[in-house]
Amino acid sequence: MFQDYEPEATRRNAGDAESSRASRGWWERNADEYQTEHGAFLGDDRFVWGPEGLDEAEAGLLGPAGSLKGLDVLEIGAGAAQCSRWLAAQGARPVALDLSHRQLQHALRIGDDVPLIEADAGALPFLDSSFDIACSAYGAVPFVADPVRVFREVRRVLRPGGRWVFSVTHPIRWAFPDEPGPEGLSVSASYFDRTPYVEQDEAGRAVYVEHHRTIGDRVRDVVAGGFRLVDLVEPEWPDWNSQEWGGWSPLRGNLIPGTAIFVCERD
Ligand SMILES: C[S@@+](CC[C@H](N)C(=O)[O-])C[C@H]1O[C@@H](n2cnc3c(N)ncnc32)[C@H](O)[C@@H]1O
Repeated sequence: MFQDYEPEATRRNAGDAESSRASRGWWERNADEYQTEHGAFLGDDRFVWGPEGLDEAEAGLLGPAGSLKGLDVLEIGAGAAQCSRWLAAQGARPVALDLSHRQLQHALRIGDDVPLIEADAGALPFLDSSFDIACSAYGAVPFVADPVRVFREVRRVLRPGGRWVFSVTHPIRWAFPDEPGPEGLSVSASYFDRTPYVEQDEAGRAVYVEHHRTIGDRVRDVVAGGFRLVDLVEPEWPDWNSQEWGGWSPLRGNLIPGTAIFVCERD
């Protein structure tokens, strides 16, 4: 697949259906490049929460080491299912779900050891109370217009006491240009402007959408979705990590947070 135009970047409203359609198309076109660019950093069977490189093996946000054995875990926006493969190695029973067929083809390229489901996070094709844990490393949540709908779906498929842990771009980043260098250090937009970031084609159709929520919005969304927030993790940039990933870099990472990880539980 190819694109013969340069999309226009703008801020404008984009609803659920338009956001979902744009995400599917964008990831179909860009999955190859994403995996080529970031596959080595992600590792085939590591669970990395974001560009800082925080690894679930050290973070233990899903539960203490050893506690995942035998648990049913749903990974949402799994991409090439690297996190699910790590979960399987811990003895969990993961299911990797993603909207993009091409991303899931990359999962198959790496291995056929994890069940894969092609579906939208807003309508999970599972029975109630099917999983003990749900997780998502930058999958789906930043791209949907109605995160509460996703959270309610996640709650529905989780068993009582289940954990839901997801990472997103840290909301403070929206006030700064998405640049890894010094130009990304000066506030250029209102943190409070929730208008989505949209790239659109010549006909005005969205081809990429990202939705901004403030920290307070995210907390309210978690609660409206039926969860308790038990931790909010802001990974610090570690000394060993010298890589740039889009607007994430050691320069910015040492000054402002780049990722927010919400650790939630349902009663
Ligand atoms: C930034 S990638 C993250 C992939 C993987 N978690 C990782 O860390 O590499 C975002 C993923 O979310 C998926 N995605 C976006 N919107 C989605 C939706 N509404 N439902 C399910 N998956 C979605 C995309 O297809 C893409 O694979």
